[in-house]
Amino acid sequence: MKNVKFLHLPLLLVLVHVCFAKADFAPYFYDNGPYSHNGNLALFSLSEDTAVGTQIYCLNGTDPEGQEVRYGLAFEPGSKEYFRVDPKSGNITLVEKLDREKQDSVEVLVSITDGRSKVVEKVTIFVMDANDERPEFQNMPAIVDVLETTASGSSIFKVQAVDRDTGSGGSVTYYLQNAQPSLFAIDRHSGVLRIKPGEMLDYEKSKTHFVTVIAKDGGGNFNGKEQFLSSSATLTINVIDAQDTPPSFIGIPYFGYVYEVSAPGSEIYTVVAKDGDVGNPNPISYSFDEGDDGVFSVNETTGVITLLTHPMYLKREIFNIKVRASEVGPDGSLMDYGVTTVVIRVVDLNNNPPTFYGEKGPQNIFELTMYEHPPEGEILRGLKITVNDSDQGANAKFNLRLIGPGRMLRVVPQTVLNEAQVTILVEDSAAMDYEKHHFLTYKLLAVEIDTPERFSATADIVIHLLDTNDNAPKFSSDYYIARIPENSPGGSNVVSVTATDPDSGLWGEVKYSIYGSGADLFLIQPTSGIIYTQPWANLDAEVRSKYNFYVKAEDTEGKYSLAEVFVTVLDLNDHPPEFNENFLEKTMIIGAPVKIEAVDDDAEEPNNVIEYSIMKADPDNIFDINSDTGEIMLKSYIKSIDIVQNITKQKDCTWSLVVQARDRGQPSFSTTAVVKIDISEAIKSRFFSYFLGLRKRPGAVFGICLTVVSFAISLTIFISTLMYWNSVKKSRIQSQGKIRKITRRVVP
Ligand SMILES: *[C@@H]1O[C@H](CO)[C@@H](O)[C@H](O)[C@H]1NC(C)=O
Ligand SMILES: *[C@@H]1O[C@H](CO)[C@@H](O)[C@H](O)[C@H]1NC(C)=O
Ligand SMILES: *[C@@H]1O[C@H](CO)[C@@H](O)[C@H](O)[C@H]1NC(C)=O
Ligand SMILES: *[C@@H]1O[C@H](CO)[C@@H](O)[C@H](O)[C@H]1NC(C)=O
Repeated sequence: MKNVKFLHLPLLLVLVHVCFAKADFAPYFYDNGPYSHNGNLALFSLSEDTAVGTQIYCLNGTDPEGQEVRYGLAFEPGSKEYFRVDPKSGNITLVEKLDREKQDSVEVLVSITDGRSKVVEKVTIFVMDANDERPEFQNMPAIVDVLETTASGSSIFKVQAVDRDTGSGGSVTYYLQNAQPSLFAIDRHSGVLRIKPGEMLDYEKSKTHFVTVIAKDGGGNFNGKEQFLSSSATLTINVIDAQDTPPSFIGIPYFGYVYEVSAPGSEIYTVVAKDGDVGNPNPISYSFDEGDDGVFSVNETTGVITLLTHPMYLKREIFNIKVRASEVGPDGSLMDYGVTTVVIRVVDLNNNPPTFYGEKGPQNIFELTMYEHPPEGEILRGLKITVNDSDQGANAKFNLRLIGPGRMLRVVPQTVLNEAQVTILVEDSAAMDYEKHHFLTYKLLAVEIDTPERFSATADIVIHLLDTNDNAPKFSSDYYIARIPENSPGGSNVVSVTATDPDSGLWGEVKYSIYGSGADLFLIQPTSGIIYTQPWANLDAEVRSKYNFYVKAEDTEGKYSLAEVFVTVLDLNDHPPEFNENFLEKTMIIGAPVKIEAVDDDAEEPNNVIEYSIMKADPDNIFDINSDTGEIMLKSYIKSIDIVQNITKQKDCTWSLVVQARDRGQPSFSTTAVVKIDISEAIKSRFFSYFLGLRKRPGAVFGICLTVVSFAISLTIFISTLMYWNSVKKSRIQSQGKIRKITRRVVP
């Protein structure tokens, strides 16, 4: 109806114009009724999304006189000129962008003229909505604080967004832009944001949540297509911590140590707990739940665990103490709590070295007196030694060692844990000899095995040995050789023997004696061991030159040993050589020697070795003598009796020689004999040949010799008798020719 009113106004103007004008009718716009296009923009509406430059309308009018009409378009002052009209065709073009949300109708003055009259009409063009506006958040982005204890399903925020479009394009629905399942949910229509049913906020998990809300319109035409527009904005949700987490201990697991040196009151360990509600933490109070055995305490404010007693009195090696940390509420009451275990280990410090103890306490010299040569394996019971290391475990493990001369003693046990009785055993009885050591000094060592400190202890073991008669006298040699000249006077010193007995006192005193078949001529002085000849003894090398007997050395207990004594009587040259007869008659067969022999009664060479020589012969160039054997030979050129006779110049072939026998002793003795030699021709008979052959057969020679000797002895007796009578006859007549026996000393 409003439009109708407007329509009347131009009509009036036209009528006025018509009434007062001359016969000129004004042009006019066609009016095609309510359902058809009018010629004058009346009831025209236009979508706001119409593009600039679009021809939107064509003014249509006419002039009653048929004159050509011109169109015009004008806007109220101050209004934007949205359209332009082509004056001739009446075509109207949009030249400014429309925006319904700013201006939903445009007043336009359209005019038509025929050159003289002009008709102006005021029309309103309605701007129609297009979906060109996004929903716009009214209260976003925003930050909200939400207590973590807020009940599940509670609404925490209401999102508001406005879309200024009309209709569907102006309606808004809400969504959450979340890929992951969210704790939150939003009501599509109302925009109310809630904690999802079944979900709870947790400050300890996440202190802040960012929720992106999308606001979307219902869609509408825009530029001929349906379009949906949306916007997003973020809601920041700060979770507010609530008292909902118990305290928790920091730095677990907890291990504390009590050392042996820890004094009562020592701080052993400090526990620290923090309220789980970090946002607004409560103070913590510490206490023990169990396991402290009353020997530890904990400071309720600091968490310092203190030892109350001396470590010595601790009954366990490990304590598992349950410590409670409770939140202290504003009113001082204890609230939420956490519990942890503190393991406290009692540690042994290696602060005790091994120590040796005697019967009265610590001791480091142990003495014992005992006889030498105790049986092997015997325990030295007199030594009452205990060793102890008052640490624990590996700290109390040590070795025992015995250090000293030889391997006489042995210690058991060799390895000790904590404490042991020390036993010392005899290992080498023979070596424990009083004669070598009057006392033995050993060091007993205890050295820790597994500790870095290797603490050790030493004790001196002194063993005084007592003597026993464990030694027999012992000769300086197994045998003694003595030489004594024959004819030594009785009581001469022969040899001195020595035996020693290392035992002490009477056990070491030695008495000597001799015995044996050869001992008769000798005496021994019992204390000195000097051997003499008996006072009456007359030693004669020619009678007996070797004596041997035993010498015995005996201590007072009768322990003895023997040695052999060999005595040699040394020969002196006390016998001259002697011929059997001082006058010898020999018959010499030419070519064979004649032997003379002297005997020396001395016992030994050279005293009884004889050298023969011819002292005198007449003529003197006939004979030679072998100085060793006494064989007298004719000189080699004398081969027949004729030569002999030619030398003597007579028929008598008898010679007299003076032969000397001299021994080689010092001094030397000699003797002479006269030998009368009768030279005869050789008798070449088989008998002599036989004798010559026999030389190679000594047995036969011996037999024959025996026969010959027997025969010779008989012959000699016979001849001697003859000669005796003969000499008795001649003694008076031939006194001058008698041969004297000569015995004289030769000075070397
Ligand atoms: C103008 O209106 C008349 C009468 O209704 C019509 O015959 C004519 O075709 C229109 N002209 C245009 C350009 O629409
Ligand atoms: C005006 O519009 C009509 C119809 O669209 C068209 O036939 C005519 O040529 C236009 N005139 C001009 C001058 O643009
Ligand atoms: C706990 O420690 C604090 C600080 O060292 C001290 O002041 C307080 O006396 C201690 N409490 C007890 C019960 O010893
Ligand atoms: C004996 O001696 C003489 C003179 O002295 C000599 O001429 C003669 O040849 C000797 N006869 C023999 C057998 O030697």
